[in-house]
Amino acid sequence: RIVYVNGDYVPEDQAKVSVFDRGFLFADGVYEVTSVLEGKLLDFAGHARRLERSLSELDMAAPVSMEALLDIHRELIVRNDLTEGMIYLQVTRGADADRDFAFPDPEKVPSSLVLFTQAKSIADSPAAKKGLRVISIEDQRWARRDIKTVQLLYPSMGKMMAKAAGCDDAWMIEDCHVTEGTSNNAYIVKDGKIITRHLSNEILHGITRAAVLRFAKEAQMVVEERAFTIDEAKDADEAFITSASTFVMPVVEIDGAALGDGKPGPVAARLREIYLDESR
Ligand code: PDD
Repeated sequence: RIVYVNGDYVPEDQAKVSVFDRGFLFADGVYEVTSVLEGKLLDFAGHARRLERSLSELDMAAPVSMEALLDIHRELIVRNDLTEGMIYLQVTRGADADRDFAFPDPEKVPSSLVLFTQAKSIADSPAAKKGLRVISIEDQRWARRDIKTVQLLYPSMGKMMAKAAGCDDAWMIEDCHVTEGTSNNAYIVKDGKIITRHLSNEILHGITRAAVLRFAKEAQMVVEERAFTIDEAKDADEAFITSASTFVMPVVEIDGAALGDGKPGPVAARLREIYLDESR
């Protein structure tokens, strides 16, 4: 695999960053995951906009222009012969030889940029036919979940809690309401209505979420953007998640309680189909 590191395209075993990198020491970095389908980058503009916002919220300088970033994505697709999967991008506040909680002067310490590809079959996923089983856990992340930072330890722990329970993922709960999945946005469907949490600092503003809600509205489906409780979710007709690495993925069970008949629901299936059609 060919990896991009600060201006160079190198084989993955030669792709290196400093031990002083603030991403490594402080999780002082932001990232994006953009999907690739049939060799095509999906919604780069949306990901670039969110990246710019994450950077600006953290007073971090963009390492290159968004146009240059698009070229790097395209170059990686070509060099790695990527037809389906993801491109991971990470910007950190760079390597400062003095470990200091205060941000370094960006003139002296430039931000660092790393990108790599990951091949994955997203469209033809067996999980989409089976549906996911999720557990609920307390949301113990920081309060700025709208910034896509690399501090992913708690979501990672959540994924392990789900695995330990024999499930696929965890939905996080704050004040009895679902915030989101460990690395995806969460939805329920009740009486034909699609319900998903409104945008705020409490969740990541998913790029797939924006596209799916747009497609749902275009298809005359009713969308309600509001917080929903975990009890409401367990009582829903169906549920699903969205993310760049899963697209629309049905959820069939929450905390051991089957939703509907325990099979992927029609709304999730239809939205998955629309999303795939629109992306091809
Ligand atoms: N995760 N919520 C969280 C907490 C996420 O980490 C993600 C994405 C999403 C969905 O956002 P989008 O539709 O823009 O992918 C929601 C990526 C895929 C990841 O961490 O791998």
